Amino acid sequence: MSHPGVCRMCAGSVREFFDFGRQPLSDAFREPGDPRAEFFYRLAVGRCETCTMVQLLEEVPRERMFHQDYPYLSSGSSVMRAHFEGVAERFLSTELTGPDPFIVEVGCNDGVMLESIAKAGVRHLGVEPSGGTADLAAAKGVQVRKVFFEEATALDILRDHGRADVIYMANTFCHIPYVESVFRGVSALLTDGGVFVFEDPYLGDIVERVSFDQIYDEHFYYFTALSVRRMAHRFGFELVDVEPLPTHGGEIRYTLTRAGARTPSPAVDRLLDRERETGLAEPQTLLRLAAGVERIRDELTGLLRDLREQGKRVVGYGATAKSATVTNYCGIGPDLVEFVCDTSPTKQGRLTPGAHLPVRPPEAFAAPYPDYALLFAWNHADEIMAKERAFREAGGKWILYVPEVRVL
Ligand code: SAM
Ligand code: TMP
Ligand code: ZN
Repeated sequence: MSHPGVCRMCAGSVREFFDFGRQPLSDAFREPGDPRAEFFYRLAVGRCETCTMVQLLEEVPRERMFHQDYPYLSSGSSVMRAHFEGVAERFLSTELTGPDPFIVEVGCNDGVMLESIAKAGVRHLGVEPSGGTADLAAAKGVQVRKVFFEEATALDILRDHGRADVIYMANTFCHIPYVESVFRGVSALLTDGGVFVFEDPYLGDIVERVSFDQIYDEHFYYFTALSVRRMAHRFGFELVDVEPLPTHGGEIRYTLTRAGARTPSPAVDRLLDRERETGLAEPQTLLRLAAGVERIRDELTGLLRDLREQGKRVVGYGATAKSATVTNYCGIGPDLVEFVCDTSPTKQGRLTPGAHLPVRPPEAFAAPYPDYALLFAWNHADEIMAKERAFREAGGKWILYVPEVRVL
């Protein structure tokens, strides 16, 4: 184990509990034959002994991850499209009912949520540094700025548009190590009674499901109600609501206001109590997670090697960012998994980072069906298995590795 790191939140000591070794950027899909060397960093995760925040030990410069060619497209899942329509509807009927309301979404990606806000004619602004995805949002009629959100950005928005009733981030806040600048920005930009709402993968679900593939470069923080409440206090905010969500394998939507602006929901104390009872942020829980990761690696690679020996064809389903951790940590290359199919045009024809599995369009899946499909996009299992019912009917089997390795 290496020396403790310094907490990005509170400058306390971060004690490492797992090291995945050298890893490539999870969304750096490569053109075949690209002669440039791949970028690698050390993927290790630890817990702050002072504020309990679970976080990465090494930070990847943001411009390496989020740029013109960032390939993740939020609209790729019908379930997620419906989820974000629901988010928009809820804001439109609650926080955005005053005179001339204004909402800012940080990390709006291809406009999956803000499109509904734009259609309702409500003032909005997306902040999205990944230019290609921002262009897709703009094409849907969404107002968007191609910049990283931080204090200076918030001040620019304040000058041009005035204060915001809602600042929203989905699967984005946990990507941002520099929280102090973000909170300063939110504090400047938010109305006195406004809400700062973010939803991100929940450490409780990661521990419960041993979903270690949630750990990768872009996910810098792994939140709990306890660590979020401490973070909020630190910057003059208060955690007033928590809502568990089924998205992305288990998330929490956190609602923050300025301290004292609203009465916290009883759900906050309930979740804090549960985290305390289960010892969620305790070192022994995280060491148990670490042991689970090694167990899953051994079982999954054992299964894939057996299938190779039996001459079975195995194909990956969903070239997720998460799968970069699985393939590279477990050593799953094209000898074990022939290719990965994925609906994103931004990933097709390329190779997955590090492991170099070819990415093919979904049509390749059925031409002909493999014997086994390794479900890298396990968080979209219901949607994908419903769509691919014919695969099972043709005798195909799914391989899952969350919460344990099993064949369905
Ligand atoms: N909100 C969408 C969703 O939930 O599907 C997109 C999530 S995607 C995983 C994360 C997005 O955050 C990327 O589009 C990335 O460009 C953006 N992002 C990362 N850092 C950011 C920052 N500092 N300010 C604004 N957006 C950022
Ligand atoms: P995510 O788990 O980060 O949302 O990524 C899901 C990936 O899986 C994304 O690249 C799109 C792909 N995908 C498919 O190929 N088919 C599908 O039906 C769904 C829902 C996702
Ligand atoms: Zn800390």
